[in-house]
Amino acid sequence: MTADRGSPPVREIGVALLGLGNVGAGVVKLLEDNAAAIGARLGGRLVVRAIAVRAPGKKKRLVEVDPALLTKDIAGAIARPDVDIVCELIGGDGEAKDAVMAAIAAGKHVVTANKLLLARHGTEVFAAAERHGVDVYYEAAVCGGVPIIRVLREGLASDRVEQFHGIVNGTSNYILTAMAAGGRAFADVLAEAQRLGYAEADPTLDVGGGDAAHKLAILCGLCFGATIDADAIHCDAISELDAVDFAYAAKFGYVIKPVVIGRDHPRGIEARVHPALVPAGWLLAGVTGAKNAVAVDSYALGPSMYYGAGAGMMPTAMAVVSDLIEISRNLRAQLTGVAPTRRHRALARRPLLPMAEIRSRYFLRFSVADKPGVLGQLTTILGAHDVSIEQVVQEAPGDGNRPAQVFVITHEAREGDVAAALGKIGALPATLAAPRLIRIVV
Ligand SMILES: NC(=O)c1ccc[n+]([C@@H]2O[C@H](COP(=O)([O-])OP(=O)(O)OC[C@H]3O[C@@H](n4cnc5c(N)ncnc54)[C@H](OP(=O)(O)O)[C@@H]3O)[C@@H](O)[C@H]2O)c1
Repeated sequence: MTADRGSPPVREIGVALLGLGNVGAGVVKLLEDNAAAIGARLGGRLVVRAIAVRAPGKKKRLVEVDPALLTKDIAGAIARPDVDIVCELIGGDGEAKDAVMAAIAAGKHVVTANKLLLARHGTEVFAAAERHGVDVYYEAAVCGGVPIIRVLREGLASDRVEQFHGIVNGTSNYILTAMAAGGRAFADVLAEAQRLGYAEADPTLDVGGGDAAHKLAILCGLCFGATIDADAIHCDAISELDAVDFAYAAKFGYVIKPVVIGRDHPRGIEARVHPALVPAGWLLAGVTGAKNAVAVDSYALGPSMYYGAGAGMMPTAMAVVSDLIEISRNLRAQLTGVAPTRRHRALARRPLLPMAEIRSRYFLRFSVADKPGVLGQLTTILGAHDVSIEQVVQEAPGDGNRPAQVFVITHEAREGDVAAALGKIGALPATLAAPRLIRIVV
């Protein structure tokens, strides 16, 4: 086919890929598989000029690439004059951070999927981008393929987000979904998730909440214009949950989900990561397996929810390539660096609201001696700390030998008061195990 006479030559946008793992390989595959559609939308071609990896000689790759593209030399790949955009898909905040800062300093636009880097060093990265007049796009960093960054940055640009609830870690959601369905133990489901490739060999960042906290920090930046200390966000691991928690949550009409919550208060940002009871009728309760979702409450739109694949080779690559397309369009329109960080709002450093000051409803579980008067002691202590009970169920074997289990659903209370009450109940002679607390989303 020949080009129309008089039409401009097809513009090539040069890309340096840093990393050819799951996401990097997906990017190569998507650029090939969707070349025609991407070309039509872009009016140009995205061309990978170099691919930096740790081990260029590696035998097994997820995609075949021209071996001449592979290099260990990150600096060389960034510096190529035919590279316009550097796509960082290495991960972590070591070499990846150096590479992103070097690319920005060299005047190259950046696409990254790296939540850890942006949660910890976003202020530095975006300030450098503004100084050098380049774009930094990061759609894949939160919820993989779900375009939540674009929604918050553009779709809701005229609105004011009041709060959001999210399921942003697919591994944790996969594990809790399986525990709820099969009454299975955490360790058993984790081992299965690792076998199936849903969980890393070292699952700490996923099940401990660290990965979700990084995404939460990015979301708080977009929603509230707040820079918060991502490493100080309160995280409760999902590993503490027992099958009995799921069974009783279901009896009370709830599903246990691994949630992140963000709210803007005058005194600080409420940001927390923990398993929580979600009413079974909520849309978020229906987000199962490894899927992600963010439910946003905003002033003008009201509730809205964004759902899809939060990880995986092709969904994540889709988000990365969409960022490449957007920067390429900016390049063609000579609009790069106009609003360099593409943030929803200007950022200000804000404190985190102390957990003692948050207000929530709670699901409490007590293992106590099966004796008369013990239930009264529990309810008296809760009442004395302003923790009012909505429902209580006691399972007492009645033989005087085995412990009784007491399950309590509270009305909304201040977490500091609940913690003080649980401290007193934990010290009672009748209490046989540390009281359990799981928050209920309200
Ligand atoms: N996987 C997902 O579903 C997903 C979803 C959302 C976001 N992300 C983010 O995307 C990024 C990449 O994740 P991934 O799953 O693709 O990781 P991955 O499979 O572990 O791949 C990492 C790649 O980086 C290369 N690399 C590591 N250290 C390097 C170094 N010092 N110099 C040059 N190359 C180096 C590796 O090279 P070799 O191949 O030679 O070892 C490999 O190709 C991370 O920030 C991750 O958080 C991933």
